[in-house]
This record gives sequence, C-alpha cells and structure tokens, in this order.
Amino acid sequence: MSSEVTTYQLLDGKAASKAIRDRIATEAAEVTAHRGRPPHLAAVLVGDDGASRTYVNSKVKACAAVGFRSTLIEESADLTEEELLGMIDRMNRDPELDGFIVQLPLPKHIDEEKVTLAIDPRKDVDGFHPENIGRMVLGLPGYLPATPAGIVELLRHYGVETSGKHCVVVGRSHIVGTPMSILMSRNSEPGNCTVTITHSRTRDLSSIVRQADILIPAIGKPEFITADMVKDGAVVVDVGIHRMPDASRKSGFRLVGDVKFDEVAPKCSWISPVPGGVGPMTITSLLLNTLKAAKG
Ligand code: GUN
Repeated sequence: MSSEVTTYQLLDGKAASKAIRDRIATEAAEVTAHRGRPPHLAAVLVGDDGASRTYVNSKVKACAAVGFRSTLIEESADLTEEELLGMIDRMNRDPELDGFIVQLPLPKHIDEEKVTLAIDPRKDVDGFHPENIGRMVLGLPGYLPATPAGIVELLRHYGVETSGKHCVVVGRSHIVGTPMSILMSRNSEPGNCTVTITHSRTRDLSSIVRQADILIPAIGKPEFITADMVKDGAVVVDVGIHRMPDASRKSGFRLVGDVKFDEVAPKCSWISPVPGGVGPMTITSLLLNTLKAAKG
C-alpha cells in the first residue's frame, strides 16, 4: 500500500505572479525610457459575458500595475464579424500598439478561427495564431499561448522537477490542452515529460489520470477530478475556473476548479488553488508577451 502525503505545497500563482510582475515593471520602465512610450496592450471584449468581462478587467488592471498602457475596447454582442475584422486590421497597422487580444468566446455569429487568423502574428500576444502555434511546436521564437506558458512559469517559479515525469493533460482545447501537451514534452526545463493527452473519447480516463506524476486538468467540469483519481505525491495544476452559486457569499457565487481541492490536496506534493493559481499566471504570461512585443 502506498501511504498518503498529508502535507502539500501550494503552487501559489498570486505570489509567483507578484515576483514576475515586479521584474516586468522594471523592464517596462526601461522600455518606456528607451522608446519614449510604454508597452501598449489593447483588449477587445465583444458582448456581455460576465466571466469574460472580469478577465479582461483583470488584464487591464495588471497592465497599469506594471506601467503598461492599455486600451479596453468594449463592443455590444451585435457587432458584426466584418466590423470586428475591420478593427483587427486597424490594430494590426497601428504603430502605437504593441499587441492586442480578442477575448474568447465570441458571440456565435462570429467565426473565431477567422478572427484568430486575421491577427498579425507579431501582435498576437495571446499566441493563438497558427504561425505562433507552429513556432511553439518547432521551438522557434514566437508568442506562447498565455495559459500553458503561465503554467510552465508557475512550475519554474517553484522549482518543480518535471524531467522524465509522466504528465497527463486532461482536455485538448486549442488554447490550453493541446499547447500544454507540447510545452511539457519539449526538450526544456520545465518540460522533458512523457505526456499523455486525454479527452472526451478517452477510455478509462480515471486509470490514466491516476498514473500522472503531473496532472493538468483543463476540461471545464467543476470538481471533476476527485481524490480516487489522483496518485499519492502528484503535482496538480488546475486550469478550471467555474462560478458555483453560493448564497452565503455577497457575490452570490464562489469559484471552483476542475479539481475537488479539499479532498485532492492532501494526496498531492504540489497543487494550485482556484482562484489564485493558474488565473494570475495567465495574465502574467500575457504581460510577458506584451513586453516582448514592445521590445520588438
Ligand atoms: N478566453 C479564455 N482564455 C482566454 C485567453 O487566454 N485569451 C483570450 N483572448 N480569451 C480567452
């Protein structure tokens, strides 16, 4: 019988972000002094999805805190695809703008693929354009997708050993699961993992998840990963974030991840909390990408 690990360490994305953002602020000041203007990020929000609004507001706030300029462009849900593509074209050509993002998801009548393809890869600080995805796969310089890159930085910050470990990624989305599997398998530290990517068609998911030394659930199912699915001593990085109704909170909800934290944490060597884990690191990655864009 294996014994349970009863003390776990927190992969604290807030603390790691603070340390990294302090360094970003120092470099931003240098860029500003050198170029005569601060790094500049624009964010486009279409429609009134509450969660998206919260994320975009956090991104704008984070920019101000590190000395970046930011522009928030809010459009109603009836913005046409053509109008959005026109805005992207203008932002691509705007010399005062270093990078921009279009917050996803978009209203159904707008084709996200078309939008992603329309963004100039040199300003694609989300790292979603196929050119940047291709560069990531080949290990060429480019912009890495913010969430998976943030997870790599979180593991780096806490010195988590990854080489030779079995990493199981749950979920194959274009913006998290798929790029995450690439970053964890590449010949780099953190990285050098043996990676398994699982998805909705995976047979006997629990038994595969249970083999993970490093488990990265990104499935969008609240508290889906339970203690019986996690190996003793595993490192768990929870990408999920869900609002659960909670009448005892002033906001009326509480945030949970894809992992049932209270029962899973005691089995882990390291685990990231929700909130305060991957979320702040995603924004930190976006700041790192924007700084890189500003440096040219
Ligand atoms: N929606 C969920 N995550 C992201 C992200 O990292 N960037 C954008 N643009 N939209 C998202």
